[in-house]
Amino acid sequence: MAKKRTERASAARQTALERQSMIGPKMNFAAAEAYKLLRTNVMFSFPDAGESRVLGVTSSFRGEGKSLTSINLAYTFAEAGKDVLLIEGDMRLPTMEARLAIAGKPGLSNVLVGTDSMAGSVQQYDATEAGRTTSFDVLVSGDIPPTPSELLGSARMSAFLGKMKEQYDVIILDLPPVGAVPDAIVASHLVDGMIVVVRAGHTVRGGLADTMRQLDLAEAHVLGFVFNGAAAVGGGKYYRKGYYSSDYYGGDHK
Ligand SMILES: Nc1ncnc2c1ncn2[C@@H]1O[C@H](COP(=O)(O)OP(=O)(O)O)[C@@H](O)[C@H]1O
Ligand SMILES: [Mg+2]
Repeated sequence: MAKKRTERASAARQTALERQSMIGPKMNFAAAEAYKLLRTNVMFSFPDAGESRVLGVTSSFRGEGKSLTSINLAYTFAEAGKDVLLIEGDMRLPTMEARLAIAGKPGLSNVLVGTDSMAGSVQQYDATEAGRTTSFDVLVSGDIPPTPSELLGSARMSAFLGKMKEQYDVIILDLPPVGAVPDAIVASHLVDGMIVVVRAGHTVRGGLADTMRQLDLAEAHVLGFVFNGAAAVGGGKYYRKGYYSSDYYGGDHK
């Protein structure tokens, strides 16, 4: 019991830390610059400048920073004046509710099965710093469905994303890891491009190779990699407070 309480307290502290130091305007300078570069590179990956895009974010395993990358990418696009929708596509281990301090439902699953409307489910997230507010819309995952991968790969999901493209410039779909469940592979058919997060000290070579193999087999359009948690220059330590760098390596991943 006591251990559980300690774990909970530590989880709460971690969430508070994230709110303070890793999201949106709380990113450090290097991280913010890295995200801007990522935004530019993503834009350059698509030849038709004016079109709306759905970007999937995945990795090999949990805890590599997919959700954090998705949030900060949403923020960075919003900062550039884009209308952004962040969708929590991880219906198995939802984290947006705690991390952004928003409601945990209704969400994507509820909208897809038709129990709730998009208008009644979408939430606006406002990040305010020094009197300046940057906003983007968030659709959390909602009630956990019995078969998330089927729902994610459904014709309804495809139609839903098509509709969202009429309303938003950029749609970011935060997905589960490829190494654990088929969800991201299934969803890769519905997105315009996939971003693969690699985390220093977490991602193992074999795991990443397997992820890339699976994405290749699915003929996913991989835009590139985000390198999360790079060592601070000169310090040799992992930067603990946030991203030191989220370098983006565009082009062909092979
Ligand atoms: N660069 C980083 N520095 C410190 N903590 C990080 C970093 N990236 C992720 N984390 C932490 O690791 C945990 C997992 O991140 P998350 O984005 O939820 O991963 P995923 O969505 O891939 O499972 C979170 O507590 C997050 O705050
Ligand atoms: Mg996640």
